[in-house]
Amino acid sequence: MVLLRLPEPHDIRTLTLGGQDPEVARWTNLPSPYTEQDARAWIMKVTNPVHWWDEPTWVIADTDDRWCGSVHLERETEGSARVRFLVAPELRGRGIATRAVRLACRWGFSSLRLNVITWRALIGNEAARAVAQASGFSVHNQIMRRGLSHRGQLMDCWFADLVPEDLIEATSGPVWSGPQLTKREREVLHAMAAGLSNRDIAESLNISENTVKNHVRSILEKLPAKSRMEAVVKGVQEGITRLT
Ligand SMILES: CC(C)(COP(=O)(O)OP(=O)(O)OC[C@H]1O[C@@H](n2cnc3c(N)ncnc32)[C@H](O)[C@@H]1OP(=O)(O)O)[C@@H](O)C(=O)NCCC(=O)NCCS
Repeated sequence: MVLLRLPEPHDIRTLTLGGQDPEVARWTNLPSPYTEQDARAWIMKVTNPVHWWDEPTWVIADTDDRWCGSVHLERETEGSARVRFLVAPELRGRGIATRAVRLACRWGFSSLRLNVITWRALIGNEAARAVAQASGFSVHNQIMRRGLSHRGQLMDCWFADLVPEDLIEATSGPVWSGPQLTKREREVLHAMAAGLSNRDIAESLNISENTVKNHVRSILEKLPAKSRMEAVVKGVQEGITRLT
């Protein structure tokens, strides 16, 4: 499980080490070589409340509250933001970036009311591309010419975008950190969100009404929710379903 939280002074040591990774220097604009001073200045900058809303920034932390990486949503035009992320070298390949990107994007859609979140990376950054893909972004096959500023130079880049519906499609995985709904339960929840009765759901999914009742009971237990209405509201808030 990963958590997103604000950067704190106790992150400085691990953040400094993470910033010194050659892959970070290669693909991001972080100062290189990266020093403790840079980490300190970064924390000061991104935790400034005025700056924070222009570029919501989180530390990705594990359950022991250790720094695992960072994720940002840099505001672009009204209704749009660009996501950036990095993960500590020794923790890569465990799905941390993907989970963090989904959480940040879900927050961006619900709290900032963003319409679209974009992603750009230097050509060849296969790991970042895979994260964008796994997070539900539509990664385009074309190249955007001079679309990315990298160390003072405009570079050609890969690009992708994510709209709220894409995130819902990609949410069968770990964004919702509570008990996972089964595929069938998600289908039932979608149908509940569409306002269907148990009988209608049974008909549309070709199952018995009793089976639907069992699924509804299980959904209410897992979310948890006291009523169908509450389950739908929670499902929408958590990005598990949407109102149609
Ligand atoms: C890009 C980065 C954040 C990925 O972090 P991560 O936690 O290892 O990513 P995940 O574990 O969530 O991996 C997601 C997917 O990427 C794939 N992946 C990871 N590293 C990869 C690599 N080097 N090449 C190809 N695919 C890779 C994983 O297999 C996974 O695919 P799957 O969902 O099909 O299994 C990390 O490599 C990093 O910090 N790189 C340096 C900074 C950077 O490039 N940031 C992006 C700037 S836009």
